[in-house]
Amino acid sequence: MGNTENRIRIFDTTLRDGEQAAGGNLNVAEKLQIARHLGKLGVDVIEAGFPAASPGDFTCVEAIAREVPESVIAGLSRTKEEDIRVCADALKGAARRRIHTFIATSPIHMEHKLRMTPDEVLKEIRFAVSLARELVEDVEFSAEDASRSELPFLIEAFKTAAAAGAATLNIPDTVGYATPEEFGDFCRSIIEGVGPEFVYSVHCHNDLGLAVANSLAAVRAGARQIECTINGLGERAGNASLEEVVMALKTRSDRYGLDTNLDTTRLHSTSALVSRLSGIQVPPNKAIVGANAFAHQAGIHQHGVMANPLTYEIMKPEDVGASGSELVLGKHSGRHAFRDRIEQLGYALTPEQGEVAFGLFKKLCDSKKNVSDEDIAALIADEILLTSGENLYDLKHCSVKTGEGPTLAVVTLRNGKGDISDAATGNGPIDAAYRAIRRAIDLEPELLSFNIKATSDRSDALGETTVVLRSGAVTAPGRGVSTDVIESSVKAFVNGVNRLHVLASAKGVELAKKAKNHYE
Ligand code: KIV
Ligand code: ZN
Repeated sequence: MGNTENRIRIFDTTLRDGEQAAGGNLNVAEKLQIARHLGKLGVDVIEAGFPAASPGDFTCVEAIAREVPESVIAGLSRTKEEDIRVCADALKGAARRRIHTFIATSPIHMEHKLRMTPDEVLKEIRFAVSLARELVEDVEFSAEDASRSELPFLIEAFKTAAAAGAATLNIPDTVGYATPEEFGDFCRSIIEGVGPEFVYSVHCHNDLGLAVANSLAAVRAGARQIECTINGLGERAGNASLEEVVMALKTRSDRYGLDTNLDTTRLHSTSALVSRLSGIQVPPNKAIVGANAFAHQAGIHQHGVMANPLTYEIMKPEDVGASGSELVLGKHSGRHAFRDRIEQLGYALTPEQGEVAFGLFKKLCDSKKNVSDEDIAALIADEILLTSGENLYDLKHCSVKTGEGPTLAVVTLRNGKGDISDAATGNGPIDAAYRAIRRAIDLEPELLSFNIKATSDRSDALGETTVVLRSGAVTAPGRGVSTDVIESSVKAFVNGVNRLHVLASAKGVELAKKAKNHYE
């Protein structure tokens, strides 16, 4: 009886719905690292991807299924036979696996998108869930656009899925249209209509900024699984934010009386990792994980907090892992201390990756006295996880001349054919370097976004640059890190170019090549 338990299952879809967010093309190593963090965080279910969507998605789901034993690993699938079989295949290595199949049930989706009658949709549900149950034990069914579906038909759809063997019935507010009281009543009516013996789940989008409120209203009505994402990533305005849902349940347990399995002290590091790898920044005022979430600016507040933190703090920073580490590593720190710190930060590296990371750390100690957790996390994300694939171009050298006259950049890249050098002037050093790279390579990618972030508020901080590039129909993020912000920016651009090539070949599409390379 799912809906009378006092535990909420957390179903994380950062790697599926979150990955659909603009610019979020993560590679296998990055997705694995996020999945390992999610496993340690204690999420009940990780939706690792949509295996039939592309060979790249299949590989990611397969790797996560094999390597993250802490959580149930779910794969998304349409109701098509091929999708379901591919999904089951990708999940084979998982200790616990789930097929999550979905079809739309609202009149507008059935008529205009699916071009199916309600009876045909019911037939699809029966077929898909039965097939999925032949292949795995644990099946979830989602009625896409449930919140705009007609209640009697939705109840019939869920009854059909349940009769075919789905144990979890998911009620998505796909377009973020619902309001809390209405959504709570809606979920209550579904549970009454279908029966209490299943686990009801909700999946709320944030178009009206109500995803968390709607999810909480649903659990009051009897839902016992919440689908959510780290930092609220997801289609359009995103999904319900995992950290907000979990901390609302924990902080207001007096009101909800419900628990989750999560180790909330890992929320901060997981949020930082997802932000770093996805290139999507967390706004400073974001609840729970924003940089200012525990910062008290007003004098009267500061005075109160010093007298007793409870005057203005409803949660302790350490409850969400926001207090940071007191220990700073430096050039005298050994391998052991470094490995321990990496583990505390939640990274799981192979021994070879650990050695490379230690070498990079030692090199950084030559230019920087104290190395913070943020520096280490940036090094691992940008130097280890990024370089896990074959690069088409490597940056060999970049120099810029600023001062009087135009800024001049000279860049040397290495590819399979040897070294390619080029030079260009530009509006500042980074613009000049980017022009030089565009001249040297076979593409002229458009720069869609550019961001530099410091790992601390000290002048010797590492600069982490994130870019999003576009060439033809392909968009790819790129990242780079260095104490020199020009170098980090150049690395980010070159990484973005490499990723454009990887993504284009995974998707089987052509990039918009230049008519002729200047060096040909
Ligand atoms: O928003 C949605 O309806 C979805 C489903 C596939 C669950 O993401
Ligand atoms: Zn969704």
